[in-house]
Amino acid sequence: MRLSMIRFDTVRVAGAPKFGAELPALTGLLGTVAPTDRPRSVLITHLLDTAIAYVEAVHSVFPVARVVAIPYSASSSAVQTLRAKGFNVILPASIPDTFVQSETQVIEVLKEASTPLIVQEVGGYLAHASARLAAFQHFLGVVEDTNNGHWLYESTGPHPIPVLSMAQSPLKAVEDSIIGDAVLFSIERILREEFAAICQGLRSAVIGFGKIGRSTAVALKGRESVVSIYDINPAKDMSAKVEGFFPRPLHDLLPESELVVGCTGQTSIRLTDMPFIKDGAILASATSKAVEFALTDFERECSVEKFSDLIWRFTQPSGKRFYVLLQGTPVNFRDGSILGTILDMIYCELFLCMRELAAKRAPIGLSKSPPPIQDEVGKAWLRSHSDDFSRALGDKIWDYPESLKLGLPKP
Ligand SMILES: NC(=O)c1ccc[n+]([C@@H]2O[C@H](COP(=O)([O-])OP(=O)(O)OC[C@H]3O[C@@H](n4cnc5c(N)ncnc54)[C@H](O)[C@@H]3O)[C@@H](O)[C@H]2O)c1
Repeated sequence: MRLSMIRFDTVRVAGAPKFGAELPALTGLLGTVAPTDRPRSVLITHLLDTAIAYVEAVHSVFPVARVVAIPYSASSSAVQTLRAKGFNVILPASIPDTFVQSETQVIEVLKEASTPLIVQEVGGYLAHASARLAAFQHFLGVVEDTNNGHWLYESTGPHPIPVLSMAQSPLKAVEDSIIGDAVLFSIERILREEFAAICQGLRSAVIGFGKIGRSTAVALKGRESVVSIYDINPAKDMSAKVEGFFPRPLHDLLPESELVVGCTGQTSIRLTDMPFIKDGAILASATSKAVEFALTDFERECSVEKFSDLIWRFTQPSGKRFYVLLQGTPVNFRDGSILGTILDMIYCELFLCMRELAAKRAPIGLSKSPPPIQDEVGKAWLRSHSDDFSRALGDKIWDYPESLKLGLPKP
């Protein structure tokens, strides 16, 4: 079986959180959409249990015609719950199949009725389909959530439809700064449960010192791992150095690293790098999809033992072995990834981007979520999640950015 055609036979099984799954900030924004601007929607999304409330909230404004669940981040309980509530949930067999299903499902919905349609997705799954979607006049465009998807739209453009990306918004940076903790949580759980190992003192390599890499390095350091960095961009290596990490050339770093966490969004560990991987090392990815490690090439050169979806062991011709977690997909989705109030913030921005598409305010082609949306989300979030700010109605934040011009409190 080719690795690019991996089947995820078992979707994640998790219990929906019993408490704290509400989305008060998002709920507060639902009423901001004019009744005349309410197209249908398709969601191509991570379907963890925490997404159930989001799907229902979106549905109350932009009726959800289909949910395409990303296979490596689909929880069986979320799929079942939404199906039981009448949602049409599609579960593709693999990442390549997600590209196929995304286009097929959206086109089916477009053919079903001529009511306007918007899509919210995570990963550029419609990036190759934009010209075909543009043929439908009632298709209003796509909202993209992730950097991985943003880059895919960038490299496949120009697009004849609006593609509104929130991947590089300052609010997304807030989320990025805590992804490292989620990545570390899942790695630590696997280390403890499957390898009887701990993070403390572990020699770890973080490949890519961007937003996710930095946050992962900080999290590992906080767990007393000895963290070194490799980034292809020299400026990032300098940044890592002054933040107290050790930037090292890749082929010096790999032979000494017991844990390698790929955070580049690219294929950072290729076949030519494989002989340098330390015997017994564990490779985990924080990158979307399964692109970080050249698994197809590794499988061709190595013998592979697939103990479970969670752990594969590769034995190189030299006899050295290394492990890959979760088939190279982002490890944090095993444990719910981002939770709590920050999830509410992300969903708010996605929703307001959908509102932009619905009102036909987004330009044709790839554009970024505009600052007024971030301001609106920030305020909605503070109103819902900060008692202090929600009480301080005279504070300058409520007039931001106007208050920046004055630099003074309101009279
Ligand atoms: N796991 C999650 O929950 C989660 C959340 C958000 C984003 N992501 C994904 O994480 C990935 C990284 O996103 P980001 O926002 O940190 O991007 P970024 O652009 O901020 O950082 C990527 C870094 O990798 C470096 N890099 C690129 N190619 C490299 C290579 N071959 N070797 C070494 N370094 C290389 C770049 O120089 C850059 O510094 C993306 O795929 C994104 O979609 C995952």
